[in-house]
Amino acid sequence: MATTDICILGTGAHVPAKVLTNHELARMVDTTDEWIVTRTGIRERRIASKTEMTSHMAAAAARAALANAGVTAEQIDLVILATLTPDQPMPATACLVQHELGVPAGAACFDLNAACSGFLYALDTAWAMLASGRHQHALVIGAEKMSSLVDWTDRSTCVLFGDGAGAAVLGPARGTAQILGARLYAEGAHAGLLCVPRSPKPFIQMKGREVFKNAVREMEDAVRDILEQHGVAASQIACVVPHQANRRIIESLAQYLGLPLERFVVNLDRYGNTSAASIPLALDEARRAGRVRAGDTTLLVAFGAGLTYGSALVRW
Ligand code: ACO
Repeated sequence: MATTDICILGTGAHVPAKVLTNHELARMVDTTDEWIVTRTGIRERRIASKTEMTSHMAAAAARAALANAGVTAEQIDLVILATLTPDQPMPATACLVQHELGVPAGAACFDLNAACSGFLYALDTAWAMLASGRHQHALVIGAEKMSSLVDWTDRSTCVLFGDGAGAAVLGPARGTAQILGARLYAEGAHAGLLCVPRSPKPFIQMKGREVFKNAVREMEDAVRDILEQHGVAASQIACVVPHQANRRIIESLAQYLGLPLERFVVNLDRYGNTSAASIPLALDEARRAGRVRAGDTTLLVAFGAGLTYGSALVRW
């Protein structure tokens, strides 16, 4: 089977019920709604309960994606879960999701950690495995319980992140949502800019300004490379689904591409940065809102800890 024959057959999403607003955060740490909105664009985020784990959110998003695709759990023979917040170090959370959904034992199931670029890494990996002809239908999930990695006394990071999950079902072409290509990158030299050390405080530590600068450059590189490779002009991109970290980073990308901000899916105001869940959450929202139409070319672009980054093109 040619690589061009793999499509996104359906998408789904799930977020926890609890909303944490900037105003509530301002009562927890020394910050204000105005600072957070001006610097990031985030207004609120979702927070999972103590018992709501990454596997639960992942399974809920996956169920929605299966329903949207019209594919049953029995048809799935590959589950890739992008996460940096697995339920536990082992077994892989993908196996817990497999069990919860009733995906058959013949399926390959594993977790993948590329931080906020995780969904694009998982999408490209699943695409290659399906294109090899060795698998038929894949569940590609991005799910995170970022609230478990946040130091809730550190105002410089705790205002940024949220919990949630998004998923896509990949399978043989049905004529729409064809994955045209993907590009993945990593710069381990910058690993220290964004990390969760093992001790003494195993929480997110970030050099925000440096991450910001690298994010803008990396996303531009990833976008330029994939557009060149596929001979697509920026003006032909009907919809961009960027990683939802900071509105100002998205605005820089819009300026670089010379595209109006209206072409970008932005939902970080409601969910904050949900890491690997960010792109599939936004993609599902875009699809349900009718923002991707048959024939449209959509650009997905991400960056995250590693530093990792990447891009993908989908023709609907
Ligand atoms: N409320 C009020 N003041 C704050 C807050 C807050 N929540 N956080 C920081 N400040 C203060 C700082 O202490 C600093 O004060 P000072 O000037 O007196 O020292 C001032 O605000 C400015 O801080 P900066 O860090 O320079 O602010 P900046 O404009 O760079 O914005 C931000 C910070 C929002 C973190 C920005 O740098 C950013 O978005 N960086 C990218 C982050 C990102 O995308 N991370 C996700 C990566 S994805 C992944 O893989 C998980």
